[in-house]
Amino acid sequence: MSIMKNFLNVILLLCVCLSWCFTEGAEKKDDSYTFQVSSLFPSSSSCVLSSKASNSKSSVRVVHMHGACSHLRTNKDARLDHEEILRRDQARVESIRSKLSKNIADGSVSMTKSTELPAKDGSILGSANYIITVGIGTPKHDLSLVFDTGSDLTWTQCQPCLKSCYSQTEPIFNASSSSSYHNVPCSSQMCENAASCSDSKCLYEVLYGDNSFTQGFLAKERFTLANDVLDDVYFGCGENNQGLFNGAAGILGLGRDKLSIPSQTATTYNNIFSYCLPSSESNTGHLTFGSAGISNSVKFTPVSSFPSPSSYGIDIVGISVGDNELEITPTSFSRDGAIIDSGTVITRLPTKVYAELRSVFKEKMSSYKSTPGRSILDTCYDFTGLDTVTLPTIAFSMGGGTVVELDGMGILYPLTQSQVCLAFAGEDDIPAIFGNVQQKTMEIVYDVAGGRVGFAPNGCS
Ligand SMILES: *[C@@H]1O[C@H](CO)[C@@H](O)[C@H](O)[C@H]1NC(C)=O
Repeated sequence: MSIMKNFLNVILLLCVCLSWCFTEGAEKKDDSYTFQVSSLFPSSSSCVLSSKASNSKSSVRVVHMHGACSHLRTNKDARLDHEEILRRDQARVESIRSKLSKNIADGSVSMTKSTELPAKDGSILGSANYIITVGIGTPKHDLSLVFDTGSDLTWTQCQPCLKSCYSQTEPIFNASSSSSYHNVPCSSQMCENAASCSDSKCLYEVLYGDNSFTQGFLAKERFTLANDVLDDVYFGCGENNQGLFNGAAGILGLGRDKLSIPSQTATTYNNIFSYCLPSSESNTGHLTFGSAGISNSVKFTPVSSFPSPSSYGIDIVGISVGDNELEITPTSFSRDGAIIDSGTVITRLPTKVYAELRSVFKEKMSSYKSTPGRSILDTCYDFTGLDTVTLPTIAFSMGGGTVVELDGMGILYPLTQSQVCLAFAGEDDIPAIFGNVQQKTMEIVYDVAGGRVGFAPNGCS
């Protein structure tokens, strides 16, 4: 009986391993991960579509704003401007800092380190760099929006651009030519936190940490997400907008506030959404609303309102690099907490934890030639002339006993073949941030109603 059971377990393990361990030419062993160096540098001119987005009717394709799959990219030969991406990533982290220190001050808990950034209303932007296409209005007008778990209000630029609109790739939405557009009156509950009133119409304003902003009318409109038609979605029709949105038409807010898309569509989708961020800029992923098609292998960890009710707080209890467990004490993360964020690129850890991760990683990578760092990345390697590299695996243990092992593509940030860097950085006085490089290729499920976030491997394919 027990021999039979063991035998079945071995078969099961083999099956799991065969399907997980040999994807895209990468080979995964217990505590290391070997892959082709060329897979870090996919062709910048051809886009490989994943089939996943077309499987569900509530699923839209996710693409990297600057990659081969993005129609916003005007110069098809342009290389990613990593310097700019990393600079804006740090700006995002600073605005998360100022937003949270403001929250803490409001809650009259002791104030964390103040920042040089002007305390705007604390909305976050930066290099939130994945876009999706949604239809807005009747007839439907397709627009590319940056999706962001750190934002609540969804907005797009609107005609007439009274003061200014930044340049966007698609034609700007014209509310007067949509039959399903309605302004929201100032008396509406949704107008409570709005900026002001004009002719009893509700006006909104969002100021981002990097001096970008959008101002205009709070309105209701028909949204078309893949094949789903959603009526009366509250959104911002921005007639005065400025910022570096790289040609995107606005933002799709996936935060936890009542104005976010998951909250507004809770009766349709149960406040559940999931996404997979593609392995590279030349592949596609998906953003899916509702629970249909979510993999059975998803493992969940509780989401908390610490460090802030507006972000997705998670509990990091351990990190391992290869076969080494880092020495993480119960207090390593408890003071500032941790969040998962779709818009932060590089994962931030408390400096002490980062220093330990780096030292173990360096030790395990000692056979590779190291090379100077760039920007916030300080641990880089020269892979020139190598066909394959072997990395130690990195896994995060989270609350509820969930262990999340990063994909090989979620460990490194490839600047050039001669400068491939560990995609982590140390940062104190801020929650740890589980960033979007680390989220690559995983299916990440936000079950907001159930108070949990889940992870499964191979979510894009
Ligand atoms: C917006 O649509 C209205 C009605 O179709 C039209 O009169 C107006 O010229 C349009 N505005 C712009 C800026 O295209």
